[in-house]
Amino acid sequence: MIAPSPFMPLSDGDPFSAEWIARLPYADAELCQSAPATWLDKYGCAAVGSHAIVRAILPDWRRFTSTAKPCDDPFSLVPPILVTEDPPEHTLVRNALMQFFTPTALARHADAFAVEADRVVAEAAERGTIDAVKDIAAAFVLKVFPDMIGLKQDGRELILDFGEAAFNTVGPINAIFQELFERAAPAFAWVEENTRRDTVKPGGLASRILDLGDQGIIAPERAELLVRATIAAGFDTTVLAIANGIGAFLCFPDQWALLRSDPKLVRNALEEVLRYDPPARVQGRSAMVDCEVEGVRFRKGDPVALFLTAAGRDPDRWEEPDRFDIMRKGANLGFGAGIHLCLGQVLARMEFDAVFQALIRRVSAIEPAGEGRRFINNAAVGWGHLPVRLVS
Ligand code: HEM
Repeated sequence: MIAPSPFMPLSDGDPFSAEWIARLPYADAELCQSAPATWLDKYGCAAVGSHAIVRAILPDWRRFTSTAKPCDDPFSLVPPILVTEDPPEHTLVRNALMQFFTPTALARHADAFAVEADRVVAEAAERGTIDAVKDIAAAFVLKVFPDMIGLKQDGRELILDFGEAAFNTVGPINAIFQELFERAAPAFAWVEENTRRDTVKPGGLASRILDLGDQGIIAPERAELLVRATIAAGFDTTVLAIANGIGAFLCFPDQWALLRSDPKLVRNALEEVLRYDPPARVQGRSAMVDCEVEGVRFRKGDPVALFLTAAGRDPDRWEEPDRFDIMRKGANLGFGAGIHLCLGQVLARMEFDAVFQALIRRVSAIEPAGEGRRFINNAAVGWGHLPVRLVS
């Protein structure tokens, strides 16, 4: 373990304990507001949540590599491609994959998304009292995303465990990791089995990514990894973005009324969700050189955990950060920044838009219907269970 940095106050807190995670994003924000960077003694890494420093480090791949992360471990389930790479390896893969995620390439899915969103929301509104996570967010994403990838129908629900486990291994090997690691074994077997050339649907996204291997653009075994990385990155994040959005409107009913009065604000609403309750909690980097960022000194080799949760609540950047305000201006970091900026953001926006447009049409008010429960995961943040009453 690396010796504590003399340039940062030491914390003996555990941001990866279940108690801490249940209080997100507030607990991360409190840690990060106590100092611009804090050394987490238990994990031997720096924790940073200042918007300005996170904004500066995320794109700075020359000084902060993505190839070594805090709590790096040999059991990580994140497919070691793209998000774990720097240029030139990263550039080659990213350029090859990007063609499938442009607005033009994705436009052909918009109608299917709208139809499915309307079906899911109509069914939920008919029932009235529902779990917004299971009955809206997961129900929608579990249909449209695997359809688009070209996965078989049987066993799709296992993808939720797969995504959850992959995000959990972004953090340390703790009790949360162990529990999910064991539970997710069937999910990993399912994903491995069903993302091969002979099991994916011809013409679907997985098959087109595998073509990159056959065409020699990337190595065939890396193309398989890329399919799994895409599934891991695109599932829980979108489920949580939708769930966290519903959770935010539940607490701020005036914002729901505002959104219904002008449905074009859905785009702003997603931006505000990414700031207020961002699904991707923490991004890892390691300093390649001794350096200084916004007055904070890092030593060569320091692992750095960049807390997007805290950056979204940084009072130096955001006025009244705990207020959910869909008219807010200014760029947030919920999709990251720089060369690793979320590759699936156009898709995530389309999914969020489809669900919220359907909600706007069919639901006049969203009311609480019981105690919600936060998702306990090392790196993915949001609601695990959110009972609501939809008023038509
Ligand atoms: C609201 C939903 C989403 C959020 C909040 C989110 C967040 C992020 C963040 C913060 C990063 C940057 C990682 C870093 O800097 O190390 C990232 C990268 C990435 N995301 Fe997303 N994501 C979302 C949806 C998706 C979807 C739907 C897909 C694809 C189907 C996807 C695919 C990726 C990929 C492949 C990367 C790696 C890009 C690279 O390393 O160049 N994401 N995402």
